[in-house]
Amino acid sequence: MKLEGQVAIVTGAGRNIGEGIAKLLSSEGASIAVVDLDKARGDRVASEINASGGKAKAYVCDVSKEADIIATVKGVAADFGRIDILINNAAISDNKHILDITKEQWDLTLAVTLTAPMLFGKYVAKEMIAGGHGGKMVNTSSTSGYFGRPRSIAYTAAKAGILNLTRSMAIQLAAYDIRVNCVVPNKIGSPVGKDEHNPDRNVLNLRKREGTPEDLAKAVLFLVSDDSDFIDGAHLMVDGGCSALMPGGDYKG
Ligand SMILES: NC(=O)c1ccc[n+]([C@@H]2O[C@H](COP(=O)([O-])OP(=O)(O)OC[C@H]3O[C@@H](n4cnc5c(N)ncnc54)[C@H](O)[C@@H]3O)[C@@H](O)[C@H]2O)c1
Repeated sequence: MKLEGQVAIVTGAGRNIGEGIAKLLSSEGASIAVVDLDKARGDRVASEINASGGKAKAYVCDVSKEADIIATVKGVAADFGRIDILINNAAISDNKHILDITKEQWDLTLAVTLTAPMLFGKYVAKEMIAGGHGGKMVNTSSTSGYFGRPRSIAYTAAKAGILNLTRSMAIQLAAYDIRVNCVVPNKIGSPVGKDEHNPDRNVLNLRKREGTPEDLAKAVLFLVSDDSDFIDGAHLMVDGGCSALMPGGDYKG
């Protein structure tokens, strides 16, 4: 097992990609802090992990609130004794056009999607440093962080921010043996903020299928395991190759 004895925080772990990550890291021996705003979602994932022989605890946390983040990080450190891995997965999309978005919608989207990964990184890094050991962090961007979209003005800006946040976190935490990388998904499971599969979702990529939470979880496992020890500050595309395509090009799939 690749993560035996390690403790991992996974934010937004109550469904879809975060759930897939939590379950795969658990299957590799990590104890999991299942962090979610929605208590029922977090409780379900934590109890399924425990029922399958893993070790998990659910934490209700609104990642847009710094006080919640501080309390959650302290709680995980107290409950499990250490923190080795942070997966910044929670995000929301505004789905708004610039002409329609309100300042409140913009602020909330950035708070959950960009500010929370920085704050979780800050407080978890302090725990790792105090524990006298290094750690691994993975932030979650999106192909929406590389390209503009006709909607989601705040989400696309936040996800672009995640790319360089990752580089600066990696540089600033390298002295403490904390590696920070980033995954860049496209079309994985259900769309962000939705629970249901949309069969009409437009998928144009080189693998000719949607991604699954397990596809993304396997990439995250690689980035938090020793297999990626020489990888730091990187962006790993997990998008079926869609970002390799020239927008407006002649590829038809
Ligand atoms: N699904 C995709 O196709 C896709 C594509 C690109 C990037 N991503 C990124 O992958 C990550 C996961 O996406 P997903 O589709 O699984 O999302 P999702 O909406 O299915 O799940 C997000 C989880 O986060 C929780 N959450 C929302 N707001 C929160 C808050 N304020 N505090 C704590 N928890 C909160 C929700 O309750 C939910 O359980 C996100 O960062 C997303 O931007 C997803």
